[in-house]
Amino acid sequence: TRSIRPLVAGNWKMNGLKADLAVATEVAKGYAPELKGKVDLAICPPASLLFMASAALIGSRIATGGQDCSAQGSGAFTGEVSAAMLTDAGATYAIVGHSERRTLHGETNAIVKAKAEAAQKELLVPIVCVGETREEREAGKALAIVRRQIRGSVPDGASAATLVVAYEPVWAIGTGLTPTAQDVAEMHAAIRAELGKLLGKAAAAGVRLLYGGSVKPSNAAELMNVANVDGALVGGASLKAEEFLAIAKACV
Ligand code: G3P
Repeated sequence: TRSIRPLVAGNWKMNGLKADLAVATEVAKGYAPELKGKVDLAICPPASLLFMASAALIGSRIATGGQDCSAQGSGAFTGEVSAAMLTDAGATYAIVGHSERRTLHGETNAIVKAKAEAAQKELLVPIVCVGETREEREAGKALAIVRRQIRGSVPDGASAATLVVAYEPVWAIGTGLTPTAQDVAEMHAAIRAELGKLLGKAAAAGVRLLYGGSVKPSNAAELMNVANVDGALVGGASLKAEEFLAIAKACV
């Protein structure tokens, strides 16, 4: 039995044209009444589809989210999307610090923290991503790296209602590889403990800790039943309604 209602969020990454909004409406159709009170769902489409996705999901109780969020409020920042714009487009969440942003766009913990704070200012819930690389895991540094990412990227004063954390081991993203249940349990417990130091135990106890990285219908039950795993951040499998819904069902 869970004390926290799980969240399953789909990160479409740079995939999806307007015809693919059919995936979102199919997910809404399949979000059965018995699932609704038990697992929260969110779809994070590319920014170009966010407004339309939010509109398509009105009344479904499925939230939407951005995949990134500028740390800046507004102004001369060509190509950036602000937190206020995400809220205006109907978003509830903003993924920040995804490993693809950290790696391909040089985002540091400080930048990720600033983005998470900008999101919170507009009442968006940041989904702060952390995770070690393969080299870091092989060197036995995974826990230390992730603890440092948590300390550096989580906004001060966050609480269960204003923060979600996603643990995504970089080597598990899009590879079909996943950590063992034991490794996930160890990491999620460490993240909860680190959040406790930052936010206080009571607040940390309620923060949803998602696991992400090659979550599929076939492995979801095992991963979602690990202690301190309060849902999933799903990439590839979120592009298929049936698979995304199967993962959601594995949480209840
Ligand atoms: O943000 C989710 C993601 O990085 C995981 O991707 O395709 O391995 O589920 P995937």
